[in-house]
Amino acid sequence: MKTRITELLGIEHPIFQAAMSWASSSAALVSEVSNAGGMGVIAAGPMRPADFQKALREIKEKTKKPFGVNIPLNGARAAELLEIAFNEKIPVMVASQGGPREHLARFRAIGTKWLHVVASEEHAKKAEAAGVDALVVDGAEAGGHPPPSEVGTIVLVRRVVKSTKLPVVASAGIAALLALGADAVQLGTRFIATPEASVHENYKRAVLAAKVDDTCLVGRGGLPIRQLKNAFSAKYEAAEKAGASQDELEFIFKESSLKKAALEGEVEWGKVEAGQSAGLVEDILPAAELFRRLVRETEEARKRLASL
Ligand SMILES: Cc1cc2nc3c(=O)[nH]c(=O)nc-3n(C[C@H](O)[C@H](O)[C@H](O)COP(=O)(O)O)c2cc1C
Repeated sequence: MKTRITELLGIEHPIFQAAMSWASSSAALVSEVSNAGGMGVIAAGPMRPADFQKALREIKEKTKKPFGVNIPLNGARAAELLEIAFNEKIPVMVASQGGPREHLARFRAIGTKWLHVVASEEHAKKAEAAGVDALVVDGAEAGGHPPPSEVGTIVLVRRVVKSTKLPVVASAGIAALLALGADAVQLGTRFIATPEASVHENYKRAVLAAKVDDTCLVGRGGLPIRQLKNAFSAKYEAAEKAGASQDELEFIFKESSLKKAALEGEVEWGKVEAGQSAGLVEDILPAAELFRRLVRETEEARKRLASL
């Protein structure tokens, strides 16, 4: 499968393991996916700079293929993480939250391809004007931080594809999104159900047990997250319904964290971030095997479309 993204990044298949704080904040998952011919992406956001540097070196030892680095540009440690990424001459950046403009020339000079995560047509146009190489778009179903507008994947991806000339990476069903004009697809939640994902077993089991309607959005009005429904999301929702003030809601929001769920396995009171796609996950599989299955299923879907 050749698309503008496979050509731009030098990868075999247009399939990404999406950046996931904690779950892909170490070397194993990323290097397995890149070795299998996709794009593994390390989520640097929650990492200590020294651990990040160590993980980058480990990835480079384990794979000679391209891999990506996700850095939230407005994060507290962004400057330090960017410096390390630059010194390690990373092949691909998948930047989120914040403007890319000031960093592009520097990274381009060392050959890094810069992909930027956008949440709307407006952000997409801004990122294109700033000069990024490609865009990453999620619809409302996505785990983690879906667009606050809550526009669904099909409509948002098509809108962005029509509004920019850049290649687009989108998240959800692979063949369907390629048909919409996306140039690659990223999956996050599916890759949580792998031995390589660095989250607690309880988290993996919760994803496995979830049905398609078991997620919810928490924190509408700010930067909402999509997560599995649990005691924390119920408390937040009850406070919302009771008319709690924005300050009170923010307090409840900050009491919980993704770390609590991912590291400690506290799946009732932690933020168990996951997409609606959790309801499609039926088994825990080694990342390389899962990747091969995704490629096979995509080929089958293409044949089905061609035979219509
Ligand atoms: C547990 C979890 C953590 C995430 N952390 C990040 C992150 O650190 N940076 C980022 O850009 N996106 C993050 N995301 C969003 C993913 O990159 C991707 O957009 C999303 O997982 C796609 O939807 P899916 O999970 O249904 O496949 C996260 C998603 C999940 C599920």
